[in-house]
Amino acid sequence: MGDLLANKTILVMGVANRRSIAWGCAQVMQEQGANLIYTYQNERLKKGLLKLTGDEASLLECDVADDNSIAQAFSEIKTRYGKIDGIVHAIAYAPKAELEGEITNATRAGFQTALDVSAYSLIAVSKVAMELELLNDPASLVTLTYMGSTRAIPSYNTMGIAKAALESSVRYLARDLGKFGVRVNAISAGAIKTLAVTGIKGHSDLLEISKQRTVDQEAVTIREVGGTCAFLMSDLATGVVGDVIYVDKGVHLI
Ligand SMILES: NC(=O)c1ccc[n+]([C@@H]2O[C@H](COP(=O)([O-])OP(=O)(O)OC[C@H]3O[C@@H](n4cnc5c(N)ncnc54)[C@H](O)[C@@H]3O)[C@@H](O)[C@H]2O)c1
Repeated sequence: MGDLLANKTILVMGVANRRSIAWGCAQVMQEQGANLIYTYQNERLKKGLLKLTGDEASLLECDVADDNSIAQAFSEIKTRYGKIDGIVHAIAYAPKAELEGEITNATRAGFQTALDVSAYSLIAVSKVAMELELLNDPASLVTLTYMGSTRAIPSYNTMGIAKAALESSVRYLARDLGKFGVRVNAISAGAIKTLAVTGIKGHSDLLEISKQRTVDQEAVTIREVGGTCAFLMSDLATGVVGDVIYVDKGVHLI
């Protein structure tokens, strides 16, 4: 417990279940005194989220592939909470066929969907937050990326390209939102067994190889990612802007 995030209200987007990285972020931020709001993709995912939080009042539906859905959710947040201090964007999706074999399997439609949901959505969300003047000064936006953005990881394919676009979006958003006191950063997490990862062909091998390449052969946890997220949300991180911070126990080094 601590008070690093006392008096901060933070929106967490992307908790699907207790294994979600967003849930690790939420748990640590809550322990640090943050007041949390959650969005879920659709009714099906709401149930699991409600089981975890036990508080329906702080949950709102938001499908980031739909501008109206983002606008509706964020207006409702503005009405209920006024200004907020941060957003955790822990959202990605690519059709299963994009996550196997070689990159030449990619399709125009699959590529568009992956880039739309996994990269453009950060811009879409930031745009609406700025239009509604939803964010305090200072505020912090944190997204989740993976080193498949800079390296050719087996089966990661289109998602790697989406993560490269996401990291670039972080830099452009950081440049443009900085004047309003809004910092934008990404955490590049190590491989963790979540719902999203099970969509990747050969994910068991990917998880095992990643684990073997950490400095102590133990996989990074969602709470360890959450620790860095809490730091980035806090005023201790006001000098960290437009960066990608690796939380992978050294996998990217070795
Ligand atoms: N698990 C890993 O190994 C790993 C490593 C590095 C980065 N990441 C990234 O972390 C983030 C969170 O993923 P996770 O691994 O916790 O998996 P997860 O399956 O628990 O979370 C993914 C979330 O994305 C949401 N989502 C997908 N499409 C959406 C849409 N259209 N609108 C709203 N929400 C949508 C899902 O509902 C889900 O809550 C993703 O960006 C992922 O790429 C994961």
